[in-house]
Amino acid sequence: MSPTPAQRYAKLLEEVRRHDRLYYVEARPEISDAAYDRLYRELLDFEKAHPGLMDENSPTKKVGGAPLDSFRTIRHAVPMQSLNNTYSEEELGEFLDRVAKNLHGQSAEFAIEPKVDGVAVSVRYEHGRLVQGLTRGDGEKGDDITENLKTIRNLPLSVDDLPKVIEFRGEVYLPEPAFAALNRARERAGEPLFANPRNAAAGTLKLLDSREVAKRPLAVVFYGLGEAPGAKTTSQVDLHQQISKWGLPGHEWFRHVKGADGVLAAVRQLDKDRARFPFATDGAVIKVSRFDQQKILGSTDKAPRWAIAYKYAPEQAETRLHAVTYQVGRTGVITPVAELDPVQLSGTTVSRATLHNFEEIARKDIRVGDFVTVEKAGEIIPAVIAVNLKKRLKESKPIRPPAQCPVCGGPLRKEEVFLRCTSRDCVGQLKRRLQHFAHRGAMDIEGMGEVMVGQLVDAGLIQHLEEIYELSAGPLEGLERMGEKSATNLIEGIQASKRRPLWRLIFGLGIPQVGAVLAEALARHFQSMEKLEKAEVADLVQVKDVGQKVAEEIFHFFRESSTHRLLRGLKKAGCNFHALEEELAVRGGVFSGKKFVITGTLHAPREDFTRRIQSLGGSVSGSVSAKTDYLLAGEEAGSKLDKAKALGIRILSEREFEKLAGSDSRE
Ligand code: IVH
Repeated sequence: MSPTPAQRYAKLLEEVRRHDRLYYVEARPEISDAAYDRLYRELLDFEKAHPGLMDENSPTKKVGGAPLDSFRTIRHAVPMQSLNNTYSEEELGEFLDRVAKNLHGQSAEFAIEPKVDGVAVSVRYEHGRLVQGLTRGDGEKGDDITENLKTIRNLPLSVDDLPKVIEFRGEVYLPEPAFAALNRARERAGEPLFANPRNAAAGTLKLLDSREVAKRPLAVVFYGLGEAPGAKTTSQVDLHQQISKWGLPGHEWFRHVKGADGVLAAVRQLDKDRARFPFATDGAVIKVSRFDQQKILGSTDKAPRWAIAYKYAPEQAETRLHAVTYQVGRTGVITPVAELDPVQLSGTTVSRATLHNFEEIARKDIRVGDFVTVEKAGEIIPAVIAVNLKKRLKESKPIRPPAQCPVCGGPLRKEEVFLRCTSRDCVGQLKRRLQHFAHRGAMDIEGMGEVMVGQLVDAGLIQHLEEIYELSAGPLEGLERMGEKSATNLIEGIQASKRRPLWRLIFGLGIPQVGAVLAEALARHFQSMEKLEKAEVADLVQVKDVGQKVAEEIFHFFRESSTHRLLRGLKKAGCNFHALEEELAVRGGVFSGKKFVITGTLHAPREDFTRRIQSLGGSVSGSVSAKTDYLLAGEEAGSKLDKAKALGIRILSEREFEKLAGSDSRE
């Protein structure tokens, strides 16, 4: 029976909401922008055709999802709007007609700019100093990512001749070469790759440790204003010029044009030029330039009527899908992969593409033998996005979800749209878990890459992760390309890993949702594996950045019998189960990376304060500068206090300092 319109609508809503959450909240989208735009459009069209069914909370009524809990959430002084999209020159023409009509005979000039595929931010300067940086969040409120933004090289921390209060709106991106280098490093370390530069930038801005952010060469480009009462700018073209006069990063490529012909020519020119830009450009933004005209045109609740985005078609190609294979992830999630007849796409040869999950396959009715469209919209892993039904052959075969794990034959469970192998002995999972355990970011075992792990497991030398420590050189020598020397080296590498700090071991266990940063926080908080293992949910939520859901995941992980066996084995092998002195001292205390200056008379010797600041990860210097984070001011503080005030540096009394220092999560 075919679904009723209400059922179809419910399904569409659910889909769009899920992808919104994946994109906005979790920063791990599953589908390309183009695929999302199509889905979103389907929803818009459906709502237009069935106004009676309209859900007041439909995603089409708002800009995005809710911000994460872990950063402070702050309301935007002026909401951050989104843009409406167009996909054809015809639609673009309709936009220009609407503008002309609503301007009642006034003629309009346009600014044409690249649409940067990055992460939208709002940066606030007061008295010429950068005081705040927010993500867009849901458009009304965003995450306070000031510390992370301050690490961006091309973003000045202070600017001369700015109005007293001014907010710039723009896009943070990771330049293409840096993105490629970051992924190469992640691949070497066995860490998951970022699908595209935008995800890499979003993932980076969401890191809670700004020192980590600083290691990645993010950049920003400004194209708009938020709250800016004293700005004398009168048009978008004027703003571009002002931005560059202030020495702020703006668009080098922009055009000032008139009329439909001028707009179209600029949009086409941009399509040619965009390949040279350091950032990914997925479209052109067309803006009515004069601010007084923008005001006349106004906005809907989602987007301005004076601007529109024109999206360039993503790179696509058609080819034959000749088989489906499966990948089993570390936690058992099964991803169907399309094996394709090789085809050229964005300059590379593509022979595999993700099919995401079995619901997607069913929804698109993809079959083996079909001609399919593959797309690579900035992503490294191409995706199958559609089927060419006209070319379907009779012998095409439907793709049925496997009844058992394709690697180990174990039982499968359905979780949301995914199938998961629940077997504890799945060889596919074991390989991924071992790879994760050994990679450079975790236990850092030299020589234990993907190939070696595959050989060890396939030869039956390791059946459970903990058996890695029972390996000896003898049996290894039988493996391909393994001599006596390399076997000994590998064993030495494995043995050396026993002495790694606790956080690496915790990270290496592969607890769902626990990355390196969280593993460090857990090590610091519990200081031993035994304490972490026994922790109740109520204890776990005490740890910085651990919410209820993550706490429950961790709790359950430690209640599984396979975890008990694993930990027993690791302990017996002599792995380090206790936090090391240096882990507790410097790594990420409450003052991690913060620069202090101490002044005035305090109730204890300065050295005592210095030592405490250092033990909580901070540093102390003698003089106040723009780089100072805190001034600890005792009684009768003098010129340093004045200077700190002038620079807007946070000033702490002894009591405030005690409060902050005491709030560290250490026992
Ligand atoms: S103007 C009120 N200009 O695209 C106007 N946005 O799809 C709001 N974007 O949220 C945005 N390049 O993150 C504007 N030159 C540009 C842009 C741009 C990229 C992003 C921005 C916005 C999204 C809308």
